Amino acid sequence: MTLKAFRSACLDFVANPFYVPESRSVRYIADALLVLEDGKVKELGDYAQLKDSYPEIAIESYPNYLLLPGFIDIHIHFPQTEMIAAYGAQLLEWLEKYTFPTERQFKDKSYADTIAPLFVDELLRNGTTTAVVLAAVFPESAEALFEECDRRNMRMIIGKVMMDRNAPDFLRDTAESSYADSKALIEKWHNKGRALYAVTPRFAPTSTPEQLTYAGQLLAEFPDVYLHTHLSENVNEIAWVKELFPENQTYLDVYDQFGLVRERSIFAHCIHLNSAEFERLAAAKSTIAFCPTSNTFLGSGLFDIERTIEQNVKIGLATDVGGGTSFSMLKTASEAYKIAQLKQQKLSPFQAIYLATLGGAKSLCLDDRIGSFEVGKEADFILVDPRSTNIMALRNPETVPTSLEELSDRLFSLIIMGDDRAIHSTYILGELAHRRS
Ligand code: GUN
Ligand code: ZN
Repeated sequence: MTLKAFRSACLDFVANPFYVPESRSVRYIADALLVLEDGKVKELGDYAQLKDSYPEIAIESYPNYLLLPGFIDIHIHFPQTEMIAAYGAQLLEWLEKYTFPTERQFKDKSYADTIAPLFVDELLRNGTTTAVVLAAVFPESAEALFEECDRRNMRMIIGKVMMDRNAPDFLRDTAESSYADSKALIEKWHNKGRALYAVTPRFAPTSTPEQLTYAGQLLAEFPDVYLHTHLSENVNEIAWVKELFPENQTYLDVYDQFGLVRERSIFAHCIHLNSAEFERLAAAKSTIAFCPTSNTFLGSGLFDIERTIEQNVKIGLATDVGGGTSFSMLKTASEAYKIAQLKQQKLSPFQAIYLATLGGAKSLCLDDRIGSFEVGKEADFILVDPRSTNIMALRNPETVPTSLEELSDRLFSLIIMGDDRAIHSTYILGELAHRRS
């Protein structure tokens, strides 16, 4: 049995601040003691009250930092790491011109092996401890990332992309091979250590009905795996789906017809949904991945967060690198705030941090394991430095906030100005996994 303890200001959530007032959804302890046992949360409380219960533990103290649960990025592309920030195109042209040629390289396992640690390092540097990741079409690329995340003990959801049409020859599988390769990966990796699998048809235009049938079959055979794809991102994409699947009423119907719309299904973007689609996602308990930096970068449109919340659709926050422009969930939250502003909507600092932590965990049905400091949860957490740059130090006094109002103001400046420099350290199961140099 290993006991560890960390003393700092600490913030997490005990309810959803989109529906429950902040006074009852935010848990903030200005001088907290977080006690871990064997990589799980044993206790969290006021330092003054808890310290005498653990006279034998050496306590690590971080007086001017903030302890937060690790960030959860619910949609990101591993083989697009090196093509982040590709100029001048919207979705379909961007895929052809930049994405497909880059993803081609991941057929080579040794190449995927060289990028996997860089990708994971970048997540950890930015405080992200769990991500839902698309690998390339090649099973080797998923294998490389599963291996790397297994070495780091990370709770990650990964899937090999399925795509058997409307892509270059070098990037296509077949309906049958995608089924067999996905099944083999599920059998090898799903629930191995902390790894989980997502069946990952890229999006409707790059899968034949046969392939989508196989995707549905995998979900029927392995009901607790995830389904991960894109939905309703770009108007030309939507028009193309209409041409390819003329018999379906909506884009979501295409997926629904093959049994892909259910709990543990994650649909990235969802910018241009109609009412029926929102209602269906809510009824199915499916999840939307809101990818703000990607949506502005690719000119896809402005996501409607207010409507998503009103219609009770599950939602998490995501970077969507390389369509997205940063691995930082702080920068992602900042862009989410700006999109809300452009739509005359609100996204409070607590709501944004909720989406990046407990909200993300709930959107993945993982809130029994990660996302907050509830007793028994896996201890993936970060220490945040709200004074990490000169201008942030000027903006934020050295004193620890004592009220929710003060904390909210500090958090907002952290979201708007913060990046990887604000992540002092990242812990996986209570073990240090990254420390800012
Ligand atoms: N739709 C299908 N593939 C992709 C992709 O790689 N990135 C984004 N943003 N949208 C997609
Ligand atoms: Zn994407």
